[in-house]
Amino acid sequence: QVFHLKDYTPTAFEVERIDLTFELHPTETKVAARSILKRRKGAAADAPLEFDGDELTLDALRIDSIDVPDSDYDVGPDKLTVRNLPASDPFEITIETTLSPETNTQLMGLYRSSGNYCTQCEAEGFRRITYFYDRPDVLTVYTVTIIAPKDVPILLSNGNSLGTGNYDAGRHFAAWYDPHPKPSYLFALVAGDLGVITDTFITMSGREVELRIYVEHGKEERATYAMDALKRSMKWDEDAYGREYDLDIFMVVAVSDFNMGAMENKGLNVFNDKYVLADPETATDQDYANIEAIIAHEYFHNWTGNRITCRDWFQLCLKEGLTVYRDHTFSQDQRSAPVKRIAEIKTLKAHQFPEDSGPLAHPVRPATYKEINNFYTATVYEKGSEVVGMIRTIIGPAKFREGMDLYFGRHDGQAVTIEDYIACFADVSGVALDQFMLWYNQAGTPLVSASTTYDAAAKTLSVSLEQTVQPTPGQANKSPMHIPLAFALIAPDGTVTTPSPDETGHEGGVLELTKRSQTFTFSGIEERPVLSLNRGFSAPVNLQIEQSAGDLAHIARHETDGVARWQAINASATDLLIKASKVARDGGDLPSADDLADILIAATQDDSLEPAFRAQVLQLPSEADIAREIGSNIDPDAIHTARRFAFDAIARKGEALFARLSEDLPDGAYSPAAEDAGKRALAAMALSYVSAAVDTPSRAKAAYDAADNMTMLAAALQILVHQFPDAEETKEALADFENRFGDNPLVMDKWMSIQAMAPGAATSERVIELMDSPHYNAGNPNRVRALIGAFSAGNPTGFNRADGQGYRLLAKVVTETDPKNPQLAARLLTAMRSWRSLESGRQEEARRALVAIQSTEKLSTDVSDIVERTLN
Ligand code: ARG
Ligand code: ZN
Repeated sequence: QVFHLKDYTPTAFEVERIDLTFELHPTETKVAARSILKRRKGAAADAPLEFDGDELTLDALRIDSIDVPDSDYDVGPDKLTVRNLPASDPFEITIETTLSPETNTQLMGLYRSSGNYCTQCEAEGFRRITYFYDRPDVLTVYTVTIIAPKDVPILLSNGNSLGTGNYDAGRHFAAWYDPHPKPSYLFALVAGDLGVITDTFITMSGREVELRIYVEHGKEERATYAMDALKRSMKWDEDAYGREYDLDIFMVVAVSDFNMGAMENKGLNVFNDKYVLADPETATDQDYANIEAIIAHEYFHNWTGNRITCRDWFQLCLKEGLTVYRDHTFSQDQRSAPVKRIAEIKTLKAHQFPEDSGPLAHPVRPATYKEINNFYTATVYEKGSEVVGMIRTIIGPAKFREGMDLYFGRHDGQAVTIEDYIACFADVSGVALDQFMLWYNQAGTPLVSASTTYDAAAKTLSVSLEQTVQPTPGQANKSPMHIPLAFALIAPDGTVTTPSPDETGHEGGVLELTKRSQTFTFSGIEERPVLSLNRGFSAPVNLQIEQSAGDLAHIARHETDGVARWQAINASATDLLIKASKVARDGGDLPSADDLADILIAATQDDSLEPAFRAQVLQLPSEADIAREIGSNIDPDAIHTARRFAFDAIARKGEALFARLSEDLPDGAYSPAAEDAGKRALAAMALSYVSAAVDTPSRAKAAYDAADNMTMLAAALQILVHQFPDAEETKEALADFENRFGDNPLVMDKWMSIQAMAPGAATSERVIELMDSPHYNAGNPNRVRALIGAFSAGNPTGFNRADGQGYRLLAKVVTETDPKNPQLAARLLTAMRSWRSLESGRQEEARRALVAIQSTEKLSTDVSDIVERTLN
C-alpha cells in the first residue's frame, strides 16, 4: 500500500477523551480502552468508525456499555470497522484487547526490556495496543490506569499523577491524567522495578516541576549528567524561545532495548540507555555530548512536536527538522559554536548527502511512502534542520524569533502542516517564501557552480552563480531553488568584508540565488579579493568553485569565521585526496601532501585557536567523504591507500608537534565540559599522527595504559586496532578492555565497533567471530548496530571487500533480523544505498546480495520497501 500526501482527509469522528486501563502481565496484558466519540462537523450521518490495529485480537466491543452485535462490525488484526452508530453523540466505545509484551520483539507497542514494561508508539505503535485512530491529527485527553503485581513497583504514564493504591490481592495500581490533548504516538507507559534520581526545576513563571530519571537499580549515579543537561535544556528553551514546561512532573526512563535514540512522549520521555548513562570510566566525551543533545532534543519536542504536532506523517520534518535545529543551537550555545557547527556539517555530508544522491533520495517532506518508519532519515532530520536555518538566514534572527513566537501562539494545540509553519515567517517578515517551499518538496542536493571575474580597471568583482539539481526517484525535472549563500570577500592583505552587491534586495554578506543562473557585482573593490562562499554552510549544497590551492590557503589563513576557515582547509584536503585516490586506482605519481601538511600544521600550532577546533582541522576527510566527492566508479581500497599516504606524510612532517600535543592532556579530575573535551580530542588526534610517524604501537599502548577515562582509553585502543592490527600490544589492550568491561554491554559496544571498523579485507571474518562472542546479542538493537552497523556503514574497505563477503554478511543479518525486528533490519540495509557508485565488480556483488534479500520469503514492508527502492 502506498500513502500519498494529497489524499489527506480528516477522520469521521473526533475523540473527546480516552480512558485506558492496563492489567499488566508478561504474556496476557489486558487493555480496556474507553473513548468518547463525536461526529466531526460535516461528516456523513452514516459514516462508519474505522480504527487502526496491528496484530490485535478483539476481546470485547461495546457501545454505551452494550455489546455491539456481530452484524454491526468487521474486525481483523489491523482494522476495526463499526457501523450503525448511535445517531446522537457523544457516545462511548469500549474496546478490550490482550497483548503479549514478552514476545513483542519488534519493540513497537507495549514490550518488555530487561524485565521492565515499556512502550514505543511513534509512528504507528499505539495500534499494537488497542484499535484506535492511530494518526497524529486526532488529539485527545488521556487518563491511564495501570494495574500490576506489587513486584512491579514503578507504574508510569503521561501527565500528572492521580494517585496510587492497592487493587486486589497482590496487585496495586497507579492512575495518570494528561490534561494536554495529544495524538496517540505520544502515549507512553513504563512499569518495572527501577532506580530513580530526582531534582526540581523552577520555571520562568515560578512553578516547581519535579524531575525524575529512572534507570536500572545501581546505575543511578550514571544519570546525573543527563539530569544536569535536562535542567540546562529547560532553562535554555525559556531564554531562547520563551517556552515554559507545562506539567507538574517531567520523567525520563532509560531502557536497554530500543530501536532509536529516544522518544518525546508527553511528560515521560523514553530513552535508549546509551543516551542517558555516563560516567568518566565508561563514557567518552562524545557520549556526553550526545546525551546533552538528545536530552535537549526530546525536551524541546514538548513545544515543537507535542503542543504543536503534525497533521500527518508526511509533515514529520515539521517537528523533527525544527527540533534538531533547536537542539543544534542549544549545543552551540552550551559549547563552542564553530566546533559544533563543523560537526553538524560533517554529519550532514556524511549521512544526508549520500541519501540525497542515491536511490533512497526523498524530499524533506515526502509526498508518498509505503512504510513511514523508513522516513526517519537524515533528510527529514538533518536537512530539515538546515532548511529551518536557511529561513533564519533569509529573514534574519529577529524576524525568525518573531515567526517562531507567532507559530507557538497561532498553532498551540493543533496538528499542522509545513505550509502553516512557513506562513508564520512570511507573515512576520513580508518575505515571499513560495519558492523556498521547494526545499521541502524537491529532493536532491543542489549543485552551485561559482566563478568570479575581477575587473581591475573598473574595480568591480562579479560573481556568477549557477544552480542545478540532479533528477531523483520520481522527480525527473527540478525547478530553481531559493538558495541563501553567506559569503565574505578577503582582500590580498587579509581584510575580510561582507559588502552588499550592486543588485538591490540583497543584504550584506548573503547572496540569494533564486534563478538558474545569476550574476552579482560588487563595486569599489580596490584589489582582486578571494571569495569565501557558503560561509558557515548557510545552504546545504555542493559547491563547485574554481579556486586555486593558493586562494584556499588565503581563506584558511584569514577567514574570521572559524567554520569558513575550516571549510577552506577541508576543501584543500579533499582536492588532494581526490587526486591521490585517482592515482592510487589508475597508476601514476602520487601528488605531494606537503602544502596540505603545512596548512594543517600551521593551524595546529596556532594557540589562539581552541584545541577542539584544531582537532577538527587535523581530521582528514574520511574514506567515505572522499568516495562521495569522487561520486562514481569507486574503489575503496585505492581511497584507503591515498588517504593513508597523505596521513603518513602529514604525520612525518609534524612529528615533533604531534608528539608534544599527544601528551598535552587537561589537568585535574575528569570533566566532560567542552574545554577539556577539546583538549582530549586534540591529544587523541595528535596521538594517531605521531603513532603513524614513529610506526610503532608503543605510544598508543602507553596512552592506553595511562588513560584514566574512557575517552582516552577508547581513542588509544582504536589507534592500536586500526594502525597496528597484528601487534602484541593490540592483543593485550583488547584483552584487557574485555576483562575490565566485559560486564558492561554499552562499553563492550565500543570494543566491538572499534574492531568492526578496522580497515581491510580481514575484518569481515573478525565480525563473524564476534557474532559468536558473549558480548553480541542479535536481539538487542544497540549490540547489532555496534557490530553490524559499524561494519557496514563505517568500514568502507572491510564492508566493500571485492569478493562480496561483506554484502553477503549484511544480507544474512538483515534477513535473520527482519522477522523479529523489521525496523532494525531495514535501517541496517540502508548501508547499501550507495552501491551504484562502486566500481563494476563490487556493484555486481552488491546487486546479487540485494536480489538475494529481495527474493526472501515473507519480507516485512520495512525491508521490502528499502530493498526495492535501493535496486530501482
Ligand atoms: N521522535 C523520536 C525523536 O526523534 C524518534 C522516533 C523514531 N521513530 C521511528 N519509528 N523510527 O526524537
Ligand atoms: Zn525528534
